[in-house]
Amino acid sequence: MANPQKAGSDFADPNAYYYSELGTRFYDLFTCDSDKTGPVKGDVDFYLRCARDFGAPVLELATGTGRVLWPIARAGFEIVGVDISDRMLAVARSKANAEDSATQGRVRLHRMDMTSFEMTERFRLALIPFRAFQHLILPDQQRRSLECINRCLVPGGHLVIDVFDPRLDYCIPGAKSPNPDRQMKDPATGHVIARHVTSRVNDPIRQMFTEGWRIEELDAEGRIVSTTETSWSLRWGTRQEMRYLFELTGFEPVAEYSDFDGSPPAYGSEQVWVARKT
Ligand SMILES: C[S@@+](CC[C@H](N)C(=O)[O-])C[C@H]1O[C@@H](n2cnc3c(N)ncnc32)[C@H](O)[C@@H]1O
Repeated sequence: MANPQKAGSDFADPNAYYYSELGTRFYDLFTCDSDKTGPVKGDVDFYLRCARDFGAPVLELATGTGRVLWPIARAGFEIVGVDISDRMLAVARSKANAEDSATQGRVRLHRMDMTSFEMTERFRLALIPFRAFQHLILPDQQRRSLECINRCLVPGGHLVIDVFDPRLDYCIPGAKSPNPDRQMKDPATGHVIARHVTSRVNDPIRQMFTEGWRIEELDAEGRIVSTTETSWSLRWGTRQEMRYLFELTGFEPVAEYSDFDGSPPAYGSEQVWVARKT
């Protein structure tokens, strides 16, 4: 009998967006205000507090363009960032030029898959910000990732993960995307960058969805100068599923919030977990 949680061959690449040229070039344009106005408001300050409380070195899985990594390094903490996408890492590396040499020296970046990596170094704190853990669309990938992280933490080391708490009305077949179409102005060129959601397929059996996105770059006359069709997928899980996953992989949750101000768990917002290696 087919096991939908194992059969992976019919999935679109859950990270296609992070491999696309336009997706990565404009990731920060669409995302860097998320810690001020978006769903993860205040997350960078929260991760900075975690670094102060739990110490360094810090390991950031799925570091992307370094949105969280660079502020942590700037605050004086050694940090290693890992990501599967060369293009996202290239953006993160390009930001080194804006930092002083001491900050640069505290950062190392590696292209690695967070479901299968090893490190000789041991970390006091591991972070998986902004729902990146949900790009691991199979339960087995999520379990293996937490096992890898557990192995490279010091005894009693901490892991902080942010995933969203699923609004179930968004997850049923036929439900539309809650993500609005957006337009931003690229400060470098003055071009308008438009992001349209072109499709959404919800698969509640696998607890995942895939969204198609079209990204267009328009010049001052409104002509399209570049365009790409891309997609990304996320797997959603309940709080209790996360608890079981921690138990299975050698972690115990020590705090659980619904935002980065420390509010208690709430339906349909974020799941912000602080877990300790047992
Ligand atoms: C939503 S972005 C988060 C980036 C960054 N942490 C932030 O908060 O802005 C998700 C990132 O996860 C990365 N990613 C997805 N699957 C991965 C995997 N298996 N191993 C490492 N990185 C992965 C993607 O390449 C992408 O950079």
